[in-house]
Amino acid sequence: MKLGFLGTGHMGGTIVRALDRSFPPDVHEYLLSNPTVSKAEAVARTLKSPVQVVSNEEAAKAADYLFLGMKPGQIGEALQALRPVFEARVLEGRPPVLVSMAAAVEIETILDAAGHELPVIRIMPNTPIACNEGVVAYDLKNVSAEAEAAFTALFEKCALVLKTTEQGLDAVGTLSGSGPAFVYLFADALAKAGEALGLPASDALQLSLRTVKGAATLAEESGKDPETLANEVATPGGTTIEGVKVLKDANLDELIRSTLDASYRRTQELKSK
Ligand SMILES: NC(=O)c1ccc[n+]([C@@H]2O[C@H](COP(=O)([O-])OP(=O)(O)OC[C@H]3O[C@@H](n4cnc5c(N)ncnc54)[C@H](OP(=O)(O)O)[C@@H]3O)[C@@H](O)[C@H]2O)c1
Repeated sequence: MKLGFLGTGHMGGTIVRALDRSFPPDVHEYLLSNPTVSKAEAVARTLKSPVQVVSNEEAAKAADYLFLGMKPGQIGEALQALRPVFEARVLEGRPPVLVSMAAAVEIETILDAAGHELPVIRIMPNTPIACNEGVVAYDLKNVSAEAEAAFTALFEKCALVLKTTEQGLDAVGTLSGSGPAFVYLFADALAKAGEALGLPASDALQLSLRTVKGAATLAEESGKDPETLANEVATPGGTTIEGVKVLKDANLDELIRSTLDASYRRTQELKSK
C-alpha cells in the first residue's frame, strides 16, 4: 500500500517509523511531505521500506491512506489546497482514505475542508507507539469494512487499537494522548522521592521507570483490577499501606480527575475556535 504523510513532525514521524518497523520492507511505500523538507528527509533516512520525499499534492495524488500529521489549526488550509486532487481521485473512483491525528478536529470539519465526501478515519494516537506500546483509538466515516480492516491491521503490531466515537476520541485524547505526560511526572516524583531517601539519582530513576512499566504489565497480564493489585501489595500492618494512606488522604482520585478535566476542557475550547 502507498502511505502518504502530510506533516512528519513529532507524532507523524513517530507513526511513520512505527509502521515501517511493523512490516517487511516490501509491503508499504511511504510518501512523506513536510514544509521543512529536511524533517521529512530525516525520517526517510531511518526507513527500510521504499520512501519518497514529495509535496502535499504528490502525496495526495498517489496515497491509499493519507495521514494528516500537522497541527489542528493547519489542517483546513492544507486540505482546501488539495481539493482539485481529491476531485480527480473521486472521479477516478479511487479516493484516498484521510487519516487525521489532530486533536479536537472533527470528521465533519475535515470533510468540509476537503470539499468531498472522502473516507475519513480520525485517530488519537500516543507517543509510546515509538516502542510498540502505543494506543490508537479511532472513529470513521464513509470507510468500507475492507478499508477499516486494512487500517486496523496497520497498527496491530505497535498499538492497542480501539474503536470509539468522536466524543470518545476527546476523552481518549486526554487519557492516553496526554496521559504519557502525566505518567512521566509521576515517575519523576517517584524517582526524586527515592533520591531523597538516599538512592543515587540514576538508580532511583531506573527503579521508578521499571516499577511503572512492571506494574502496568502485571495489571494487563493478570487481568486483575488495579485496586485489587494495590491491596495485594499493601498488606495490613505492613509498610506500603502507610504510603497508600497518604495518597488516599491527599485525594489522589480527585487530583487525577481535575487533571483530565483541565485537558478535556482545553480540547472543547479548541474545538469551538
Ligand atoms: N505529540 C503528541 O503526543 C500527539 C498525540 C496525539 C495527537 N497529536 C496530534 O498530532 C498532530 C501533530 O502534532 P505534533 O506534536 O507532531 O506537532 P509537530 O511536531 O509540530 O508536527 C507538525 C508537523 O506538521 C508540519 N506541517 C505544518 N503545516 C503543514 C502543511 N500544510 N502540510 C504538511 N505538513 C505541515 C510541520 O512542519 P514545519 O515544522 O516545517 O512547519 C510539522 O513538521 C497534531 O494535530 C496533534 O494534535 C499529537
